[in-house]
Amino acid sequence: MTTQHASATPDLPLDMIIFGGTGDLSFRKLLPALYMAHLHCNLPPDTRILTIGRKPWSREEYINEFMEVKAKPFIEKKAFDATAWDKFLALFEYVRMDVDSVEDYHRLKEASREGVRRVFYLATSPDLFTHICDNLSAAALIDENSRVVLEKPLGHDLASAQEINTAVGKHFGEAQIYRIDHYLGKETVQNLMVLRFGNAIFGPLWQAPYIKRVQITVAEEVGVGSRAGFYDKTGALRDMVQNHLLQLLCIVAMEPPVSLNPDAVRDEKLKVLRSLRPMTPEDIARDTVRGQYTAGAVNGEPVKGYLEEDNVPANSRAETFVALRAHINNWRWANVPFYLRTGKRMQKKVSEIVIEFSELPFSIIPSGGRNYGNRLVIQLQPEESIQLQMLAKEPGSGMHMLPVNLNLDLQQAFTERRAEAYERLLIDVIRGRLTHFMRRDELEAAWAWAEPILEGWSKSGDKPRGYTAGTFGPAASTALMARENAVWAEESQ
Ligand code: BG6
Repeated sequence: MTTQHASATPDLPLDMIIFGGTGDLSFRKLLPALYMAHLHCNLPPDTRILTIGRKPWSREEYINEFMEVKAKPFIEKKAFDATAWDKFLALFEYVRMDVDSVEDYHRLKEASREGVRRVFYLATSPDLFTHICDNLSAAALIDENSRVVLEKPLGHDLASAQEINTAVGKHFGEAQIYRIDHYLGKETVQNLMVLRFGNAIFGPLWQAPYIKRVQITVAEEVGVGSRAGFYDKTGALRDMVQNHLLQLLCIVAMEPPVSLNPDAVRDEKLKVLRSLRPMTPEDIARDTVRGQYTAGAVNGEPVKGYLEEDNVPANSRAETFVALRAHINNWRWANVPFYLRTGKRMQKKVSEIVIEFSELPFSIIPSGGRNYGNRLVIQLQPEESIQLQMLAKEPGSGMHMLPVNLNLDLQQAFTERRAEAYERLLIDVIRGRLTHFMRRDELEAAWAWAEPILEGWSKSGDKPRGYTAGTFGPAASTALMARENAVWAEESQ
């Protein structure tokens, strides 16, 4: 698939129109990100932000009751500047709308300017995407300068994702559609491309048999919080694996793209997704683990189990943890397992990619009976660092070796401010840069691989395994690794 690029009209005035403008994502992420973009002069000079909600607020009420009370606390204290904040608020308009009402779209049209770039940010449930786009089109709000941003999860399976993509595609060309996965906006994720394609030393080693295993972990300390209504229908596979973890896997596994052009990068990621070995029912039973947290303690604080959380049905089978072993059927990665793992209420917040290189075929230097391989550990959060685990001589007489880290602390190496993922991605949308967004075929290939796992789980009738909050997941996850005599990264430190 190639994307027909709309002619980039630079510096048009911008109307940023946010559906779901009073929702969680807006006040936690989008509005603080837009404030930061404004503070650093990254919004076009003539920008307006139109937020859409159902509450019958006036503009002043929206500012006082929403922006000041809900959004402001999510702005980093040291970045807050009262003058800039006031100027930022002056960009806002609140549009009360019922997204089902055709007349309301005409009111939106009156509120928005003509001859500007309209960016429609759909931060609503994906069930509404089709409907909103149809109505925007009927009210003649979409033109060749418009762009639409679609929040994840896009659909709940392949068929619903295809349906949404087709419906949105009736009104927007592929180059106008920004399917967001905020992991692609993280500094370290972008840096992974530079690590791989800017450094010659890794090139020849980045394949089987020199790499014997890859681990990708996204562990969170938080529980489901107030999002049970969404999360219970979604679960960790749809919420995290189908998008964030598979995108990380793509960047680790893709072939060098011919350039950083959006289609060049996305073509290579697509090939990885299409090379993922489909999981049979036997693979699912053997190579996947799903879990659900039970009461425990995180950071010394007692926390509830998932089933005790507000709005979670007592018999819920939603998984809050997934670990699985995936394989990529191509020349570079044949027989190299990719272990993916994510969970809520885990022992600590950490997102990292660990590349385990193969051990020496034969060692002449004693290593205390252990066979160490080199490991490259790319930590995305909470710290941004890259460590290369090497073997060095243990000081003293005799020749013994022990692992030590070559440690690149990216926060120390680059002291400049780092934009948050949403800020960076919003600026990309405004400037028309599609590289860090998912193309339709990519998204659908990710669903095509993930969906059989969901079906397999539902057919098996098994419940997710319980794991105590504050641990690294069910024992079966450790066992998944132990089968090939391996351990998850935290157990080898
Ligand atoms: C979101 C998920 O996409 O990513 C959340 O819906 C999850 O459930 C969040 O908590 C994690 O993002 P981050 O940037 O905090 O790792």
